[in-house]
Amino acid sequence: MPSTVLVTGGAGFIGSYFVRRLLKKQDLRVVNLDALRYSGNLENLRDVEHHPRYVFIHGDICDAAVVDRAVRDYHVDTIVNFAAETHVDRSILEPGGFVKTDVLGTYVLLEAARAAGIRRFLQVSTDEVYGDVPAGSSMESDPLAPRSPYSASKAGGDFLALSYYATYGLPVVLTRGSNTFGPFQYPEKFIPLFVTNAIEDQSLPLYGDGLQRRDWLHVEDHCEGIETVLQQGTPGEAYNIGGGQERENKEMADKILTLLGKPQSLLRHVTDRAGHDRRYALNCDKLRLLGWRPRRTLEDALASTVTWYRENRWWWEKIKSGEFRAYYERVYGARLSGE
Ligand code: DAU
Repeated sequence: MPSTVLVTGGAGFIGSYFVRRLLKKQDLRVVNLDALRYSGNLENLRDVEHHPRYVFIHGDICDAAVVDRAVRDYHVDTIVNFAAETHVDRSILEPGGFVKTDVLGTYVLLEAARAAGIRRFLQVSTDEVYGDVPAGSSMESDPLAPRSPYSASKAGGDFLALSYYATYGLPVVLTRGSNTFGPFQYPEKFIPLFVTNAIEDQSLPLYGDGLQRRDWLHVEDHCEGIETVLQQGTPGEAYNIGGGQERENKEMADKILTLLGKPQSLLRHVTDRAGHDRRYALNCDKLRLLGWRPRRTLEDALASTVTWYRENRWWWEKIKSGEFRAYYERVYGARLSGE
Protein backbone atom coordinates (compact mmCIF):
# COMPACT_ATOMS: atom_id res chain seq x y z
CA MET A 1 0.00 0.00 0.00
CA PRO A 2 1.37 3.47 -0.82
CA SER A 3 2.28 5.78 2.01
CA THR A 4 -0.36 8.45 2.70
CA VAL A 5 0.77 11.86 3.86
CA LEU A 6 -1.63 14.25 5.56
CA VAL A 7 -0.44 17.75 4.69
CA THR A 8 -2.23 20.35 6.79
CA GLY A 9 -2.38 23.90 5.49
CA GLY A 10 -1.65 22.57 2.01
CA ALA A 11 -3.56 25.42 0.36
CA GLY A 12 -1.22 27.98 1.91
CA PHE A 13 1.96 29.35 0.40
CA ILE A 14 4.68 26.88 1.44
CA GLY A 15 2.20 24.02 1.95
CA SER A 16 0.99 24.16 -1.65
CA TYR A 17 4.54 23.86 -2.98
CA PHE A 18 5.07 20.89 -0.70
CA VAL A 19 1.87 19.16 -1.88
CA ARG A 20 2.98 19.55 -5.49
CA ARG A 21 6.41 18.23 -4.64
CA LEU A 22 5.06 15.11 -2.92
CA LEU A 23 2.73 14.33 -5.84
CA LYS A 24 5.77 14.04 -8.11
CA LYS A 25 6.71 10.91 -6.15
CA GLN A 26 5.08 7.76 -7.49
CA ASP A 27 4.53 6.00 -4.19
CA LEU A 28 2.65 8.67 -2.20
CA ARG A 29 -0.94 9.72 -1.70
CA VAL A 30 -1.51 13.24 -0.39
CA VAL A 31 -4.45 14.33 1.74
CA ASN A 32 -4.57 18.11 2.06
CA LEU A 33 -6.52 19.37 5.08
CA ASP A 34 -6.98 23.14 4.99
CA ALA A 35 -9.44 25.49 6.70
CA LEU A 36 -9.19 27.92 3.76
CA ARG A 37 -8.96 30.94 5.97
CA TYR A 38 -7.87 34.27 4.49
CA SER A 39 -4.54 33.08 3.07
CA GLY A 40 -5.53 29.53 2.11
CA ASN A 41 -6.18 29.53 -1.62
CA LEU A 42 -7.04 26.53 -3.78
CA GLU A 43 -5.93 28.49 -6.83
CA ASN A 44 -2.40 27.76 -5.60
CA LEU A 45 -3.09 24.10 -6.47
CA ARG A 46 -5.16 24.36 -9.64
CA ASP A 47 -2.67 22.27 -11.61
CA VAL A 48 -3.00 19.23 -9.31
CA GLU A 49 -6.63 19.41 -8.15
CA HIS A 50 -7.64 16.37 -10.27
CA HIS A 51 -4.50 14.37 -9.59
CA PRO A 52 -5.43 10.70 -8.89
CA ARG A 53 -3.31 10.54 -5.72
CA TYR A 54 -4.58 13.83 -4.26
CA VAL A 55 -7.53 14.50 -1.95
CA PHE A 56 -8.63 17.84 -0.53
CA ILE A 57 -10.55 18.12 2.75
CA HIS A 58 -11.93 21.47 3.85
CA GLY A 59 -11.45 21.46 7.61
CA ASP A 60 -9.72 22.92 10.64
CA ILE A 61 -6.86 21.23 12.50
CA CYS A 62 -8.53 22.32 15.77
CA ASP A 63 -11.51 20.08 14.95
CA ALA A 64 -10.56 16.68 16.39
CA ALA A 65 -13.44 14.85 14.69
CA VAL A 66 -12.36 16.07 11.24
CA VAL A 67 -8.70 15.29 11.88
CA ASP A 68 -9.40 11.80 13.30
CA ARG A 69 -11.67 10.96 10.38
CA ALA A 70 -9.10 12.10 7.82
CA VAL A 71 -6.36 10.02 9.46
CA ARG A 72 -8.59 6.94 9.75
CA ASP A 73 -10.42 7.07 6.40
CA TYR A 74 -7.27 7.58 4.35
CA HIS A 75 -4.94 5.35 6.41
CA VAL A 76 -2.59 8.26 7.00
CA ASP A 77 0.89 7.17 8.14
CA THR A 78 2.69 10.53 7.96
CA ILE A 79 1.63 14.04 9.00
CA VAL A 80 3.31 17.28 7.91
CA ASN A 81 1.84 20.26 9.72
CA PHE A 82 1.98 23.53 7.80
CA ALA A 83 -1.38 24.78 9.10
CA ALA A 84 -0.73 27.91 11.12
CA GLU A 85 -1.48 31.53 11.62
CA THR A 86 1.80 33.02 10.40
CA HIS A 87 1.80 36.79 10.15
CA VAL A 88 3.45 38.72 12.99
CA ASP A 89 1.46 41.94 12.41
CA ARG A 90 -1.82 40.00 12.64
CA SER A 91 -0.63 38.35 15.86
CA ILE A 92 -0.14 41.81 17.33
CA LEU A 93 -3.72 42.77 16.40
CA GLU A 94 -5.39 39.50 17.45
CA PRO A 95 -3.23 36.95 19.29
CA GLY A 96 -6.08 34.55 20.15
CA GLY A 97 -6.27 32.87 16.75
CA PHE A 98 -2.52 32.18 16.90
CA VAL A 99 -2.74 30.43 20.25
CA LYS A 100 -5.70 28.42 18.97
CA THR A 101 -4.31 27.21 15.66
CA ASP A 102 -0.57 27.08 16.39
CA VAL A 103 -0.82 25.52 19.86
CA LEU A 104 -4.22 23.84 20.21
CA GLY A 105 -4.32 22.77 16.56
CA THR A 106 -0.88 21.18 16.90
CA TYR A 107 -2.07 19.35 20.01
CA VAL A 108 -5.13 17.97 18.14
CA LEU A 109 -2.89 16.68 15.34
CA LEU A 110 -0.43 15.13 17.79
CA GLU A 111 -3.27 13.32 19.57
CA ALA A 112 -4.59 11.96 16.27
CA ALA A 113 -1.08 10.86 15.34
CA ARG A 114 -0.63 9.12 18.68
CA ALA A 115 -3.98 7.31 18.42
CA ALA A 116 -3.19 6.12 14.88
CA GLY A 117 0.43 5.17 15.63
CA ILE A 118 1.71 7.07 12.63
CA ARG A 119 5.22 6.58 11.24
CA ARG A 120 6.30 10.23 11.22
CA PHE A 121 5.08 13.66 12.31
CA LEU A 122 6.83 16.72 10.93
CA GLN A 123 6.09 20.05 12.59
CA VAL A 124 6.90 23.02 10.37
CA SER A 125 8.21 25.82 12.58
CA THR A 126 10.18 29.03 12.23
CA ASP A 127 13.49 30.71 13.05
CA GLU A 128 11.45 33.28 15.01
CA VAL A 129 11.21 30.89 17.98
CA TYR A 130 14.86 31.69 18.82
CA GLY A 131 13.97 35.36 19.24
CA ASP A 132 16.19 38.29 18.34
CA VAL A 133 19.75 37.27 17.39
CA PRO A 134 21.99 40.38 17.63
CA ALA A 135 25.12 38.43 16.61
CA GLY A 136 26.12 34.95 15.49
CA SER A 137 23.54 32.35 14.45
CA SER A 138 21.01 30.10 16.17
CA MET A 139 21.73 26.40 16.68
CA GLU A 140 18.89 23.92 17.16
CA SER A 141 20.11 23.34 20.72
CA ASP A 142 19.77 27.04 21.64
CA PRO A 143 17.09 27.99 24.15
CA LEU A 144 13.92 29.39 22.61
CA ALA A 145 13.17 33.05 23.34
CA PRO A 146 10.15 34.08 21.25
CA ARG A 147 9.00 37.70 21.54
CA SER A 148 5.79 38.04 19.51
CA PRO A 149 2.44 36.31 20.05
CA TYR A 150 3.12 34.55 16.73
CA SER A 151 6.55 33.21 17.61
CA ALA A 152 5.47 32.36 21.16
CA SER A 153 2.58 30.30 19.77
CA LYS A 154 4.89 28.53 17.34
CA ALA A 155 7.33 27.82 20.18
CA GLY A 156 4.40 26.35 22.12
CA GLY A 157 3.75 24.02 19.18
CA ASP A 158 7.46 23.06 19.05
CA PHE A 159 7.54 22.20 22.76
CA LEU A 160 4.32 20.20 22.55
CA ALA A 161 5.55 18.22 19.56
CA LEU A 162 8.88 17.45 21.26
CA SER A 163 7.04 16.45 24.43
CA TYR A 164 5.11 13.82 22.44
CA TYR A 165 8.41 12.33 21.36
CA ALA A 166 9.84 12.32 24.90
CA THR A 167 6.64 11.11 26.56
CA TYR A 168 4.97 8.79 24.06
CA GLY A 169 7.81 8.02 21.65
CA LEU A 170 5.87 9.61 18.78
CA PRO A 171 8.37 9.94 15.88
CA VAL A 172 8.32 13.73 15.71
CA VAL A 173 10.76 15.90 13.74
CA LEU A 174 10.79 19.71 13.55
CA THR A 175 11.95 22.19 10.94
CA ARG A 176 12.66 25.85 11.64
CA GLY A 177 12.73 27.86 8.44
CA SER A 178 13.88 31.39 7.73
CA ASN A 179 12.04 34.11 5.75
CA THR A 180 10.59 32.39 2.72
CA PHE A 181 9.51 33.93 -0.57
CA GLY A 182 8.41 33.09 -4.09
CA PRO A 183 5.32 33.12 -6.32
CA PHE A 184 1.86 32.64 -4.68
CA GLN A 185 2.84 34.26 -1.36
CA TYR A 186 -0.01 36.21 0.23
CA PRO A 187 0.73 39.92 -0.22
CA GLU A 188 0.76 40.76 3.51
CA LYS A 189 4.40 39.58 3.70
CA PHE A 190 7.27 41.96 3.04
CA ILE A 191 8.37 40.87 -0.45
CA PRO A 192 4.96 40.42 -2.12
CA LEU A 193 3.58 43.51 -0.36
CA PHE A 194 6.44 45.69 -1.54
CA VAL A 195 6.44 44.21 -5.05
CA THR A 196 2.69 44.58 -5.58
CA ASN A 197 2.59 48.05 -3.99
CA ALA A 198 5.45 49.17 -6.23
CA ILE A 199 3.72 47.76 -9.32
CA GLU A 200 0.69 49.87 -8.36
CA ASP A 201 2.84 52.95 -7.57
CA GLN A 202 1.78 52.79 -3.91
CA SER A 203 4.10 53.56 -0.97
CA LEU A 204 6.36 50.83 0.42
CA PRO A 205 5.93 51.05 4.24
CA LEU A 206 9.36 50.29 5.70
CA TYR A 207 9.15 49.74 9.46
CA GLY A 208 11.44 51.89 11.63
CA ASP A 209 14.94 52.48 10.29
CA GLY A 210 14.68 49.55 7.83
CA LEU A 211 18.00 48.16 9.07
CA GLN A 212 16.47 44.97 10.48
CA ARG A 213 17.98 41.86 8.96
CA ARG A 214 16.32 38.70 7.64
CA ASP A 215 17.75 35.57 6.04
CA TRP A 216 15.94 34.97 2.74
CA LEU A 217 15.07 31.48 1.47
CA HIS A 218 13.32 30.52 -1.75
CA VAL A 219 10.18 28.44 -1.18
CA GLU A 220 11.49 25.51 -3.27
CA ASP A 221 14.69 25.39 -1.21
CA HIS A 222 12.60 25.49 1.95
CA CYS A 223 10.45 22.57 0.73
CA GLU A 224 13.51 20.57 -0.26
CA GLY A 225 14.80 21.03 3.29
CA ILE A 226 11.50 19.86 4.77
CA GLU A 227 11.50 16.81 2.52
CA THR A 228 15.07 15.97 3.55
CA VAL A 229 14.10 16.12 7.23
CA LEU A 230 10.97 14.07 6.57
CA GLN A 231 13.05 11.34 4.97
CA GLN A 232 16.23 11.43 7.03
CA GLY A 233 15.67 13.44 10.21
CA THR A 234 16.20 11.79 13.58
CA PRO A 235 13.04 11.56 15.71
CA GLY A 236 12.97 14.07 18.55
CA GLU A 237 15.26 16.49 16.68
CA ALA A 238 14.81 19.96 15.17
CA TYR A 239 16.52 21.14 11.96
CA ASN A 240 17.18 24.73 10.87
CA ILE A 241 16.49 25.64 7.23
CA GLY A 242 17.97 29.00 6.25
CA GLY A 243 18.91 30.52 2.92
CA GLY A 244 22.22 31.87 4.24
CA GLN A 245 21.37 35.13 2.46
CA GLU A 246 21.03 37.79 5.12
CA ARG A 247 20.00 41.28 4.00
CA GLU A 248 18.75 44.51 5.54
CA ASN A 249 15.11 45.26 4.78
CA LYS A 250 16.09 48.59 3.26
CA GLU A 251 18.44 46.84 0.84
CA MET A 252 15.66 44.43 -0.17
CA ALA A 253 13.27 47.33 -0.77
CA ASP A 254 15.89 49.04 -2.96
CA LYS A 255 16.39 45.85 -4.98
CA ILE A 256 12.65 45.53 -5.57
CA LEU A 257 12.38 49.14 -6.75
CA THR A 258 15.34 48.68 -9.07
CA LEU A 259 13.96 45.45 -10.55
CA LEU A 260 10.66 47.19 -11.27
CA GLY A 261 12.23 50.43 -12.48
CA LYS A 262 10.33 52.40 -9.82
CA PRO A 263 11.57 55.53 -7.96
CA GLN A 264 13.06 55.63 -4.44
CA SER A 265 10.37 58.15 -3.56
CA LEU A 266 7.91 55.26 -3.12
CA LEU A 267 9.80 54.23 0.03
CA ARG A 268 8.21 55.48 3.27
CA HIS A 269 9.75 55.00 6.72
CA VAL A 270 6.77 54.34 9.00
CA THR A 271 6.23 53.60 12.72
CA ASP A 272 8.03 50.40 13.67
CA ARG A 273 6.33 47.06 14.44
CA ALA A 274 5.83 46.56 18.20
CA GLY A 275 8.52 44.29 19.66
CA HIS A 276 10.20 44.07 16.25
CA ASP A 277 13.06 41.53 16.27
CA ARG A 278 16.08 43.18 14.62
CA ARG A 279 17.71 40.07 13.27
CA TYR A 280 17.35 36.34 12.75
CA ALA A 281 20.16 34.06 11.60
CA LEU A 282 20.39 30.29 11.44
CA ASN A 283 23.22 27.81 11.59
CA CYS A 284 22.16 25.05 9.17
CA ASP A 285 25.10 22.65 9.54
CA LYS A 286 22.86 19.91 10.92
CA LEU A 287 20.68 19.84 7.80
CA ARG A 288 23.66 20.25 5.50
CA LEU A 289 25.06 17.04 6.98
CA LEU A 290 21.98 15.31 5.52
CA GLY A 291 22.96 16.57 2.06
CA TRP A 292 20.67 19.62 1.77
CA ARG A 293 21.79 23.03 0.63
CA PRO A 294 19.90 25.99 -0.82
CA ARG A 295 20.24 26.03 -4.61
CA ARG A 296 18.90 29.48 -5.53
CA THR A 297 20.71 32.78 -5.14
CA LEU A 298 18.69 35.61 -3.67
CA GLU A 299 19.29 37.85 -6.68
CA ASP A 300 18.01 35.32 -9.27
CA ALA A 301 15.13 34.12 -7.12
CA LEU A 302 14.02 37.66 -6.30
CA ALA A 303 14.13 38.67 -9.97
CA SER A 304 11.99 35.70 -11.03
CA THR A 305 9.57 36.29 -8.16
CA VAL A 306 9.16 39.95 -9.14
CA THR A 307 8.53 38.85 -12.73
CA TRP A 308 5.87 36.38 -11.55
CA TYR A 309 3.99 39.09 -9.64
CA ARG A 310 4.23 41.40 -12.64
CA GLU A 311 2.79 38.71 -14.93
CA ASN A 312 0.15 37.31 -12.56
CA ARG A 313 -1.87 40.27 -11.45
CA TRP A 314 -5.02 38.06 -11.74
CA TRP A 315 -3.76 36.15 -8.70
CA TRP A 316 -3.06 39.05 -6.34
CA GLU A 317 -5.33 41.87 -7.49
CA LYS A 318 -8.46 40.13 -6.24
CA ILE A 319 -6.74 39.28 -2.93
CA LYS A 320 -5.79 42.90 -2.40
CA SER A 321 -9.32 44.07 -3.11
CA GLY A 322 -10.97 41.71 -0.60
CA GLU A 323 -10.44 41.10 3.16
CA PHE A 324 -6.96 42.49 2.69
CA ARG A 325 -8.22 46.06 2.35
CA ALA A 326 -9.63 46.23 5.87
CA TYR A 327 -6.48 44.60 7.25
CA TYR A 328 -4.24 47.03 5.36
CA GLU A 329 -6.17 49.99 6.70
CA ARG A 330 -5.83 48.68 10.29
CA VAL A 331 -2.08 48.10 10.07
CA TYR A 332 -0.99 50.89 7.76
CA GLY A 333 -3.78 53.50 7.74
CA ALA A 334 -2.43 55.72 10.51
CA ARG A 335 1.17 54.96 9.59
CA LEU A 336 0.70 56.19 6.04
CA SER A 337 -1.81 58.93 6.74
CA GLY A 338 -0.97 62.21 5.14
CA GLU A 339 -0.47 60.63 1.71
O1 DAU B 1 11.51 34.14 9.77
C1 DAU B 1 10.46 33.28 9.37
C2 DAU B 1 9.19 34.05 9.46
O2 DAU B 1 9.22 35.01 8.42
C3 DAU B 1 7.95 33.21 9.37
O3 DAU B 1 7.89 32.34 10.47
C4 DAU B 1 6.72 34.10 9.38
O4 DAU B 1 5.55 33.32 9.23
C5 DAU B 1 6.81 35.11 8.27
O5 DAU B 1 5.72 35.99 8.34
C6 DAU B 1 8.11 35.88 8.35
O6 DAU B 1 8.11 36.77 9.48
P1 DAU B 1 8.69 38.26 9.39
O7 DAU B 1 7.99 39.09 10.40
O8 DAU B 1 10.17 38.27 9.39
O9 DAU B 1 8.20 38.60 7.90
P2 DAU B 1 7.50 39.85 7.24
O10 DAU B 1 7.39 39.57 5.79
O11 DAU B 1 6.27 40.27 7.95
O12 DAU B 1 8.59 41.01 7.47
C7 DAU B 1 9.92 40.89 7.03
C8 DAU B 1 10.69 42.09 7.53
O13 DAU B 1 10.17 43.26 6.88
C9 DAU B 1 10.50 42.34 9.01
O14 DAU B 1 11.70 42.87 9.56
C10 DAU B 1 9.42 43.40 9.07
C11 DAU B 1 9.66 44.21 7.80
N1 DAU B 1 8.43 44.78 7.22
C12 DAU B 1 7.37 43.95 6.99
C13 DAU B 1 6.20 44.44 6.47
C14 DAU B 1 5.02 43.53 6.22
C15 DAU B 1 8.37 46.14 6.90
O15 DAU B 1 9.34 46.89 7.08
N2 DAU B 1 7.20 46.63 6.39
C16 DAU B 1 6.11 45.85 6.17
O16 DAU B 1 5.07 46.38 5.71
